[in-house]
Amino acid sequence: MREDGSSIPAHIAIVMDGNGRWAKARGRPRTIGHRAGARAVNRCIDWCVARGVGALTLFAFSSENWNRPAEEVGTLMQLFLRALDREVDDLGRRGIRLGFIGDREAFGADIRDRMARAESVTANGQAMRLTIAASYGGRWDIIQAARRMAEAAVRGEIEPGQIDERRFATALGLADLPPPDLFIRTGGDKRISNFLLWQLAYAELYFTPTLWPDVDAEVLDRAVEDYGRRERRFGLTSEQIARGLPA
Ligand code: IPE
Ligand code: IPE
Ligand code: MG
Repeated sequence: MREDGSSIPAHIAIVMDGNGRWAKARGRPRTIGHRAGARAVNRCIDWCVARGVGALTLFAFSSENWNRPAEEVGTLMQLFLRALDREVDDLGRRGIRLGFIGDREAFGADIRDRMARAESVTANGQAMRLTIAASYGGRWDIIQAARRMAEAAVRGEIEPGQIDERRFATALGLADLPPPDLFIRTGGDKRISNFLLWQLAYAELYFTPTLWPDVDAEVLDRAVEDYGRRERRFGLTSEQIARGLPA
């Protein structure tokens, strides 16, 4: 349940896993799975808009995924580029504000430029926040935040003793969003794989064997139903929660 008593999570974060196995099961190359995965992304966005989910964060490509065979990485980059060219204006028209977290320096200029354009074209969107984690790693995120804090300290803008959780979080990815309420991983594996290590501290975790390209409204509804039955205690007791969370 959310603090306001509703059971639709305000922010969902998803590890979209299983594209390669989906293709393999059909005797097709892994890249076909990634294409099918891109279609599932659109279904997932539509579902979030329809259900009133305020923020969706999708793990599209991890820091470690750069080490996959060059051909697969190349195809993923092409797909990413094409999706940015094809979908961004439509997302903007639907009021969806797009953002990216991850190490942008690792991408070519063509992708970096399109990311910047996507963010500016959709900047006024009020219907939903969509964040794509690309070239993202939770450890990378924490390190880049630590570096920014250290640089501010060296410049004399802050004292090291002033670095606390609140201030640190302002330098992390998703800083301007509430932390994810619900984490979903498709594909059957039960791990975080270096996704939002800090931001998931109190997320509810949900794992489904469904492979990402097969994800549809039914699968997502089941995840949210399960989420609605959880008691989120944030370190408190059930009795305290029943009385209402302290402000
Ligand atoms: C997730 O699917 C997409 C990316 C990591 C880019 P995978 O490609 O990891 O598919 P599986 O896990 O091998 O089936
Ligand atoms: C996690 O999936 C990354 C993304 C979905 C983008 P992986 O397929 O890379 O994770 P592992 O290798 O199974 O842990
Ligand atoms: Mg995988």
